Amino acid sequence: MIKILITGSNGQVGAELIRIIKSSIDAEILCTDITSKNKEVGDLQFEYLDVKSKELTEKIFEKFKPDQVYHLASILSASGEKDPYLAYSVNLTGTMNILNACVKYNVSKVFIPSTIGVYGPEAPKENAPIRHSSIPTTMYGITKAAAEMLCQYYYEKFNLDVRSLRYPGLISYRVPPMAGTTDYAVDMIRHAARNSSYQCYLEKDTPLPMMYMQDAMESTIKFMHTDPSKLTVRTAYNVMSYTFTPDELYQAILEFKPNFKVDYQPDFRQKIAESWPHSLDITKSKEDWGFSIRFDLRKTVEDMIENLQ
Ligand code: SER
Repeated sequence: MIKILITGSNGQVGAELIRIIKSSIDAEILCTDITSKNKEVGDLQFEYLDVKSKELTEKIFEKFKPDQVYHLASILSASGEKDPYLAYSVNLTGTMNILNACVKYNVSKVFIPSTIGVYGPEAPKENAPIRHSSIPTTMYGITKAAAEMLCQYYYEKFNLDVRSLRYPGLISYRVPPMAGTTDYAVDMIRHAARNSSYQCYLEKDTPLPMMYMQDAMESTIKFMHTDPSKLTVRTAYNVMSYTFTPDELYQAILEFKPNFKVDYQPDFRQKIAESWPHSLDITKSKEDWGFSIRFDLRKTVEDMIENLQ
């Protein structure tokens, strides 16, 4: 049985990843986070791990001896702007600590998610290519762009099988995300499901790339099972399902909740959203490891509302 270590297991992605790993891989799982375990962890092993600490990170690796690592601990775009130093420490120092520990303790495979935040305003808005020369404008984007380069560096220098996907905004119902810019989408659907109105912090016509969590998790597992010889990108592959604006999401929700109301009060997150692409070029993900999705926007909204009720 392989041993899998997850960092940031209490977060939006962690909660879902635990489920899919449990149901699809015969593995001993160790969940770690800086907050006490949430209900998704259930009776799995759980340890406190602040990835900013090299000592603590190595202690956990020494004790558990993982074969694979899913390094999800991260500070997202909106919280990163409130505390850029924390974003730097968790997203970069933390990632270095994990990568170093992976080499030291002979981990065979590592997953480190990346983000659309790595793009800056000069990147093409449509079908943004994997390789780009734009400079991200958030600390989140800067640290994640550097982390992508670290992935490639550790792959080339230490032959560590590090893999990364650039997630778009992820839509899910289990653990509410509250620290990002794309998270308005989850929040809007949550309000609709509860029959309350919603105040949106982005302008109604702001397009962003998005994806339903089920598709993101199935893709991640498929990607992690791909034969390493097929992978030609060691920074991060692009993935996304659809692009919508807050108003387009609102219209999609009206089909299920015809009395739902939204008003728009943009805040600092508007500028962050405007610096990101509307869509990503996903050709390489399809070619190299067969990326595909099941949920369109309508199916996403329907499934979200059903589960939130
Ligand atoms: N969901 C992230 C954020 O909005 C983007 O990847 O910060």
